[in-house]
Amino acid sequence: MLLLVLAGCSSRQSTLAPESHQARDIASLWWWMMGVAWIGFGVVAGILLLAWVRRDRRGIGRDREGAKPGEKISTAVVLGLGVAMPILLIAALFFVSDVFVIRTTQAPAASATKLTVRVIGRQWYWEVRYPGTRAVTANEIHIPARTPVLLQATTADVIHSFWVPRLNRKIDTIPGKVNEILLYADEPGDYRGQCAEYCGLQHTHMSMVVDAQPPAQFRAWLASEAAPARSPAGGLAARGERVFLAGPCSSCHTIRGTAASGFVGPDLTHLASRRTLGALTVPNRPADLAAWIVDSQHAKPGNQMPDVQLGASQLRALVAYLDSLK
Ligand code: CUA
Repeated sequence: MLLLVLAGCSSRQSTLAPESHQARDIASLWWWMMGVAWIGFGVVAGILLLAWVRRDRRGIGRDREGAKPGEKISTAVVLGLGVAMPILLIAALFFVSDVFVIRTTQAPAASATKLTVRVIGRQWYWEVRYPGTRAVTANEIHIPARTPVLLQATTADVIHSFWVPRLNRKIDTIPGKVNEILLYADEPGDYRGQCAEYCGLQHTHMSMVVDAQPPAQFRAWLASEAAPARSPAGGLAARGERVFLAGPCSSCHTIRGTAASGFVGPDLTHLASRRTLGALTVPNRPADLAAWIVDSQHAKPGNQMPDVQLGASQLRALVAYLDSLK
């Protein structure tokens, strides 16, 4: 059991491996709470032990007439440790978390940030937009490292919760509302996150990754992501584009630069530049992509994508096309 619990401490998606000022504040609050809880537990366990050691061996119920001198002390202990101390501790905790943590993790004013990223929760993936550009992607949120980024979170359907534990606290996505939080990463790297509000059958497969890049690399990525897809000149990929546009794919997905403009599933304009499919459910490799197209319900039951019936050569062409969308 303990090993299972400790597995949660791995640094990939752990609040206890902070990589920003905000996440460090949250982690230190957690350690303080943990410490105080252990002290409280120690005191209670100590008193219980003392009571057991000094128990009345003559049995309960005998010799109970009239108050004994010790009973006044026990009333004071019950009121002091059982009523006053919790009130004091919880009030102190409330004060410390409000003043030192909630406020420092709050979204900054738009003027204090260099970039805004808009994330839209959907059953079950994250749509990612960069206001002011045409870039639309999914589940892989690129940001420049060491740069304050304003993240605006909303939803297209039910309530989700955006949470990247190593960078900041969680923030709910609520229909008709835009919630904001600061995203800041001390160092370039991948920071995994997860939907933190139960949102239906595939809640567990609604992950995302924040890819903090050196600023120049990020600007290059954003420019390429904002550009429309390039149509393949010929060959298998060109045939695959025709399959995509003629088949059911184009009624649910958008590929900017083509006639496909569906909005049920993720924007696929630069699908080949993404590392995973289905919100980090399977890797984005040609074989996995082919399996996903014909039977995504196997990997992610209940998702909105129907299994697509295609002949082997059509499927090969379609995968070649999607794989060309760098
Ligand atoms: Cu979205 Cu849980």
